[in-house]
Amino acid sequence: MCEEVQKKKVLSCIQPSGMLTLGNYLGALKNWLNMQDEFDCTFAVADLHAITVRQDPVKFRSQIYSTCALLLALGLDPNKSTLFIQSHVPEHAALSWLLSCNTQLGEMSRMTQFKDKSAKHADNVNVGLFSYPVLMAADILLYKPDFVPVGADQKQHLEIARDIAERFNRIYGEVFTIPEPYIAKTGAKVMSLQDPDKKMSKSDDNLNAYVAILDDRDTIIRKFKRAVTDSEGGIYVSEDKPGVSNLIGIYSAVTGKTVKDTESEFSGLGYGDFKLAVGEAVADELAPIKQRYEEIIKDKSELERIYKEGAARAEKVAAKTYFKAMKKVGFVL
Ligand code: TYM
Repeated sequence: MCEEVQKKKVLSCIQPSGMLTLGNYLGALKNWLNMQDEFDCTFAVADLHAITVRQDPVKFRSQIYSTCALLLALGLDPNKSTLFIQSHVPEHAALSWLLSCNTQLGEMSRMTQFKDKSAKHADNVNVGLFSYPVLMAADILLYKPDFVPVGADQKQHLEIARDIAERFNRIYGEVFTIPEPYIAKTGAKVMSLQDPDKKMSKSDDNLNAYVAILDDRDTIIRKFKRAVTDSEGGIYVSEDKPGVSNLIGIYSAVTGKTVKDTESEFSGLGYGDFKLAVGEAVADELAPIKQRYEEIIKDKSELERIYKEGAARAEKVAAKTYFKAMKKVGFVL
């Protein structure tokens, strides 16, 4: 008799805030794509997370659509993976409340992203910004994933999700699986092209600091030509050369070559030629995604069909876990 082997589960989400960047692509999305055959994958557009900073309603709606379309353009296949919009599955917000009551203020205050974001948005340090990692824990724990593919900046949030799950299981009995982070060797932390000590971010005010997945070829190459390096020459990875190291990391992540092979490929070349080569490799990788995106975004009703079907599938799983957690706490159901 042939026994069916259960695939391991994967869950991840992305915020629909602004243009998705090369950092999102190399740190997370490319791995999502690589995992969808081997694993049982669930991916969501984390719209609830995005309102921790103020959003313009018209732009926000259009960014949610475009993020969904981009996920499809990347090659995520709704027949293989569950794709949905976070707010369409109400159990995310509901479980977040249950988990909030089992999370300590002290552990939340240590989150570096809260410290960074509250400094950046000093006029709107809201409670949601503070408790954001609890909502993220709910996103994860509802689906009992084995792995959560993220960039290095989300590692701390994942650790707190594990802590919350372990505590809940200890107090009330087994409900949640303890997930492992999945952080790729290259591309896990793509840095700004203008200030390579800072993470590449879609909310950067300097447009030259990041490459958007949907930038056109000329823009991508121009941004790489302007990338900040150093005055020393020499193409190798070193702590003293954050700009060059970042470009080597990007090239390796895009081409799949090792850092060592990348260093030897460019050894002896000037920075101008090196930056052009990295820009061209990135532009070649992103061009077909942009082309597919432009087709997909035209068909809103098909997009709507896909994310609604995804939400229905996701909710079946989420409701089961949520029900179990409520029952363990003692609610009348
Ligand atoms: P977000 O939307 O900021 O980013 C989405 C994914 O992209 C990765 N990433 C990067 N990786 C490498 N270099 C960069 N410069 C870079 N910038 C972003 C992020 O690590 C992330 O994997 N809180 C999450 C979204 C979220 C989530 C979740 C993730 C909500 N619920 C549950 C995993 C599981 C966030 O703001 O990611």
